[in-house]
Amino acid sequence: ISYPDYLRLLPKTELHCHFVSTMQPARLLELADKNNVALASRDIDTLLDSDNLLDFLALFNAAHDVLVTGDDLAQLAYDGVRDAVAEGNLRYRETFINPQNFPGRSYADVVDPILDGLRAAEVDLGVGFGLVVAINRNLGASSATELVQTVIDNPRDGVFGIGQDDLSPDGTESPGAWVDAYALAGRHGLQRTAHVGETLAADPRGILVALDDLGCERIDHGYRSVDDPEVFARLLDSQVPITCTPHSTRVLSGWQFGPEHRIARMIAGGLNVTLSTDDAVFFRTDIGREYTDVLPAMGFGPDAAKQISLAGASAAWCEPGQRSRLE
Ligand code: ADE
Ligand code: ZN
Repeated sequence: ISYPDYLRLLPKTELHCHFVSTMQPARLLELADKNNVALASRDIDTLLDSDNLLDFLALFNAAHDVLVTGDDLAQLAYDGVRDAVAEGNLRYRETFINPQNFPGRSYADVVDPILDGLRAAEVDLGVGFGLVVAINRNLGASSATELVQTVIDNPRDGVFGIGQDDLSPDGTESPGAWVDAYALAGRHGLQRTAHVGETLAADPRGILVALDDLGCERIDHGYRSVDDPEVFARLLDSQVPITCTPHSTRVLSGWQFGPEHRIARMIAGGLNVTLSTDDAVFFRTDIGREYTDVLPAMGFGPDAAKQISLAGASAAWCEPGQRSRLE
């Protein structure tokens, strides 16, 4: 078996995937028509043409607007898994969902159809799943704490924890703004992660804020650790799992795949790196390509690839029994 085939067929666990970004562009246009939602453009290349986080987030938010009915949500949940199995042998996925981006709908009206779709995909395709409820950093701290309280008041099998994404209105990550929401989540046994240290605009020390002030059990992105020896040492010593998303960094930061890429330096330096798509369709990638297009170019062989796929399985938030099935 060739190395590219090995990479494509390797069973994969994905821990950093935003729900709406598994939507195929044709489906985005179809849903916009069906639900009478205006898009910035009808041309797919124009729609997907962002090269920085703030621009991209406009598309990310628009993709929420076209999902109107419960069936829209359930079908996307199912189709997104089916596509990833075909593209790169996905076996398990934890998906971020931003309930605050569906204004006017209850938490249950958003989460329950998605869980239905994911459950159907698990039955048909054998792909395990979990949801991570993500705080939209564009909105205030009290809205985030309310969201976490809603998660606590509406427990669901398969909702494992909380995260935070998007940017603050001033374009910063500001992870520390959400300490109350994270403390509340921790008291109620929810797992915690956060998008921190993603682009050059981010402070590497945001990674320490996530670990020390928010109590995160995982870190999303974390690339800026490479630029701060103390932060890097902390991630090395703790071996906290980090969800890295190579194609996302190429689109949003222009970082090309090679041995000097920050993710390559994180892997070579012994950090506990896992690989995911982030916003698969919008960054024109899929879970297979996060391995096939990336690891050979960064100088890693089959042993490193296998270790990374196993790192994803052991960092999953499902029951340990289900986790060992992935390894
Ligand atoms: N929302 C969706 N993808 C994101 C990313 N890569 N960074 C911040 N917020 C996001
Ligand atoms: Zn992300």
